[in-house]
Amino acid sequence: MIQVSHVSKDFIKYEKGKGLKGLIQGFFNAKKTVHHAVSDISFEIQKGEMVGYIGANGAGKSTTIKMLTGILTPTGGEIRVNGIVPHQDRKSNAKTIGVVFGQRTQLWWDLPLVESFSVLKEIYQVSDQDFDERMAFFNEVLHLNEFISSPVRTLSLGQRMRADIAASLLHNPQVLYLDEPTIGLDVQAKQAMRLAIKKMNETFKTTVILTTHDMDDIEDLCSRIMILDHGKIIYDGNLQKIKDTYGVMKTLTLTLSSPFEHNDEFITSFSSDHDITIESNLTQVCIKFNKQHTKVSQLTAWMMHHYEVLDMSIADTDIEDIVASIYEAKVVNV
Ligand SMILES: Nc1ncnc2c1ncn2[C@@H]1O[C@H](COP(=O)(O)OP(=O)(O)OP(=O)(O)O)[C@@H](O)[C@H]1O
Ligand SMILES: [Mg+2]
Repeated sequence: MIQVSHVSKDFIKYEKGKGLKGLIQGFFNAKKTVHHAVSDISFEIQKGEMVGYIGANGAGKSTTIKMLTGILTPTGGEIRVNGIVPHQDRKSNAKTIGVVFGQRTQLWWDLPLVESFSVLKEIYQVSDQDFDERMAFFNEVLHLNEFISSPVRTLSLGQRMRADIAASLLHNPQVLYLDEPTIGLDVQAKQAMRLAIKKMNETFKTTVILTTHDMDDIEDLCSRIMILDHGKIIYDGNLQKIKDTYGVMKTLTLTLSSPFEHNDEFITSFSSDHDITIESNLTQVCIKFNKQHTKVSQLTAWMMHHYEVLDMSIADTDIEDIVASIYEAKVVNV
């Protein structure tokens, strides 16, 4: 469905000097620097796939989405979406795609929401029957009826995002680009949004590319992720693999009946695990350990042998922490 081959996007930036002198000089000979926002990326996405496109601020995610939608022309390489070169044939491309930029709306600000849908129906020439069926589906998953007669400018952020997603899907596009669709939403609205995206993908086999900084979005929706770092794809593959490789740290939290005492016996018992750390505040103890070196059973048995344990829980490393450490390390070996 989507083929991206050796695509790059450079932006030319003009640097001006400081102060009035710099400003005037800048008119005549501003220093030109080339910024490689996206460098030589290649990937393919099959029909019906849902792929998470993640990376730190400024990594080049939105730039990629803009090239895929045809808003921006690549500096080099080739993009085909459903056989179409997006920037060359923006009109045909627009018919087969839907886009949501979480930061702005594609709806008409002063019109009641229902009117925006009527306009889109005409633009995309959606038949009456399809329109009614799809609106019924959107109401079911996105509950648009609650605010369908209100002008768009009066909608809350969560309502507007729901409306925007429905608007992007009215013509039943084969590909949906979601650039931070859950930004600024509360926990409940995020869950509703994820459920809607999931249902739409299942129902219409829509191919979805999702950029987000919320790892819960990714965990919930995408089995495949691509990680972008300074314009380069440093990982393209399974989310579970990353978790298995990088999520080796576990956290054991305990509540004891008496204060924990740091002792040499504990250190020598677990000295083969160089990653182990222990923090305690009287009876509260938090042990972080590497599951490849220390067995949970060994650790809990030791604690139970030496203390009366009142409560205990074990947690895996958060995917959030894993991704943060990948951004930092900038290498992925899985
Ligand atoms: N029109 C433009 N002109 C010049 N530079 C640009 C332009 N658009 C983007 N850039 C630069 O390209 C880089 C990538 O920007 P992009 O918006 O793609 O990042 P992003 O991964 O979407 O980040 P975020 O998570 O903050 O949304 C940034 O350094 C940005 O400043
Ligand atoms: Mg962006």
